[in-house]
Amino acid sequence: MRAVDIIMKKRDGAELSREELAFIVTGYVSGDIPEYQVSSWLMAVFFRGMSFRETADLTELMLRSGSVMDLSGIAGPFVDKHSTGGVGDKVSLVLAPIAAACGIRVPMMSGRALGHTGGTLDKLESIPGYTTRLDEKRFREYLERDGFAMTGQTDAIVPADKKLYSLRDVTATVESVPLITASILSKKVAEGAEALVFDVKSGPGAFMKTVADAERLANSLVKTGQAMGKRIVGVITDMTEPLGDKVGNFLEVEESIDCLKGKGPADMMEVTLRLSAWMLVAGGKARDVAEAESMCREAVDSGRAYELFERNVRSQGGDADRMLSLCGSYRSGFSRELKAPSAGWIESIDAYKIGLAGVYLGVGRNKTTDPVAPDVGFVFSRKKGAKVAAGDTIATVYGRDAASLDAAWPLVSGSLSIGAAAPATSPLVIKEITAL
Ligand code: URA
Repeated sequence: MRAVDIIMKKRDGAELSREELAFIVTGYVSGDIPEYQVSSWLMAVFFRGMSFRETADLTELMLRSGSVMDLSGIAGPFVDKHSTGGVGDKVSLVLAPIAAACGIRVPMMSGRALGHTGGTLDKLESIPGYTTRLDEKRFREYLERDGFAMTGQTDAIVPADKKLYSLRDVTATVESVPLITASILSKKVAEGAEALVFDVKSGPGAFMKTVADAERLANSLVKTGQAMGKRIVGVITDMTEPLGDKVGNFLEVEESIDCLKGKGPADMMEVTLRLSAWMLVAGGKARDVAEAESMCREAVDSGRAYELFERNVRSQGGDADRMLSLCGSYRSGFSRELKAPSAGWIESIDAYKIGLAGVYLGVGRNKTTDPVAPDVGFVFSRKKGAKVAAGDTIATVYGRDAASLDAAWPLVSGSLSIGAAAPATSPLVIKEITAL
């Protein structure tokens, strides 16, 4: 086989065999096929797409490029949730303890902030002492004892994705439904979950800007995951404005604690309870999503979910007392207020612009090696639909220093649209696709 023939075949729109896909994946991981040929192949896939059979084969080949987490000996059911990425999306921090409190085991392997989207690992690491670097032994121990454990991807898990994702990032081939499906699913299957709930974000702050694109990705994840023997739910949720009232690293930990203590913002609670509820249904702990949602609400109201969160913080080396004492005060000394330029109703706060501004402030990063800051970000006091007078504060914005606030400001002020009338409301949970 020759890589050039496989590139040509995909370039001309034909379907690749499993052997041809294996030749590319194994050849790239071993270093036998050079990056310039894999880049061309990625671009051919980007434009020509892949059949469902090719996507499932690619997912499995990527999965087999590394090892799979061994959860044998621990009682399940193992269910995880994965978000395609958003702004203010702290759902994992709240959902994992809720699902665990309802009898689900959540083996959660998360990522870091990249581009305009935030990362669960960066948020958790803003808790003093908390480590997300767990070896398999400790991951298994905490998962069994606390009901959930939070870790980063190890080198042993899907090495093919590590290489391919970095190459896609610099060759403008990230936004391809089959490539995203294989990348996400191979990693999620490798962590050992039996069932998966995907939060496919849709809107300006998401990878998928339209509901139609989000639906294509959700369908692909559900169908491919099902072909790999998993129970799958795909939930399309809105990412037009940031989720919740706080965006940042420790700021999002703070809001997660509020949510777990029953004082969270309505939008965060709606999305989190819905996704947690689907985890319970997928794990066989509830008959339907309505029953599951009331179980999840009870886990919050009783304090059991918060208790598990605190237990996980202590297990993973975090100083829970210090975390609590920092709530409300862990803020950079450099701040500026975003004020309403005129009277009216807030029509929208653009999540994409807020996410990008966050990179300048120190919430996120452009390159995987960039450092992030724990005490920067946004605290919104008004969001979409609020009536404001000229000069009212919409948000307090915290940056690393004055220069970072200056750099972020055009995006921050450009994110806000004020209209003459109250905007129409739109649903947060847009569509649900199940294969259970
Ligand atoms: N997240 C991933 O893990 N992979 C993708 O391809 C896109 C988002």
